[in-house]
Amino acid sequence: MGGRKSIGIIGMGWVGSSVAISILHSGITNELLLHDIRTEIAEGEAMDLSHGSSFYPTASVTASSIEDMMATDAIIIAAGRGGKPGETRLQLLNENVIIARDIALKLKNYQGIVIVVSNPVDVLTYFIQKFSGLPESRVIGTGTMLDTARLKEILGKTLNLDPRSVHAQVVGEHGDSEVVLWSSATVGGKDLQSWPGWTKEKETMIAEQVRTAAQEIIKRKGATNHAIGLVTATLIKWILRGERRIITLSRVLPKALGMGRVAISLPTIVGSDGASEILIPEMTNTEREKLEASATIIKKAITSVNQ
Ligand code: 2OP
Repeated sequence: MGGRKSIGIIGMGWVGSSVAISILHSGITNELLLHDIRTEIAEGEAMDLSHGSSFYPTASVTASSIEDMMATDAIIIAAGRGGKPGETRLQLLNENVIIARDIALKLKNYQGIVIVVSNPVDVLTYFIQKFSGLPESRVIGTGTMLDTARLKEILGKTLNLDPRSVHAQVVGEHGDSEVVLWSSATVGGKDLQSWPGWTKEKETMIAEQVRTAAQEIIKRKGATNHAIGLVTATLIKWILRGERRIITLSRVLPKALGMGRVAISLPTIVGSDGASEILIPEMTNTEREKLEASATIIKKAITSVNQ
């Protein structure tokens, strides 16, 4: 895939605007279309971002309807209410599923890649795929890509290494039931669990820090936006460049994986055709049980909406 691309963002709140600026800096797009149900917010963001055009690779930024986004290469859905202090991601479900449904119905004939960012991201990825009828590989939730990044950041600080040199993954729900795969974590080809001074207590403490990271930020500034903005822009870049990176992200699983109809994060190869191949990592029995429990929690949330 050559050339620069056109990208749409639906929902211009904290997250949508951070996604926009990260995308512009990445240089992956030469046309960014912004939509918000509050038209003036999208117009204001487009003006504000355009005024900075001397400082990022050439791109136009304009407010748009969803209908006018149909020729884009990717659409990011960041619409919906964000979490309040003390609220779990799943508590946003009923309000955000209504918004997601309205958007998904407009995407039925869309040919590009849809990236779902709004929470609860796994459940919304499931419903957006269902209501849009698009192929499962083309409706991708950012899922635990952010939790994996948080894990690597904390591990990097703990071991005094760059996070990119630490190989460790968070799978499952982007939420309270997420699972850190300690048994397959490695550093320089060495098992993390045999690293000098490594303990189970460290694992428990770090997993808790990753799990509660968003809450700690929301408690202080009311929302999270920059890390998820960078995650989303990077994901889009890797997809549109067809890089075939392996990332932990959420999509509706194929039946063959035996976990039922659910969107949940597992390591997945992403390329120009979307999230095409899902990998099942080596897991201990306990890790597998935790992953299955996490899938059950998401499935229950999905069923609660259907009722
Ligand atoms: C985050 O993890 C709230 O899901 C958002 O930053």
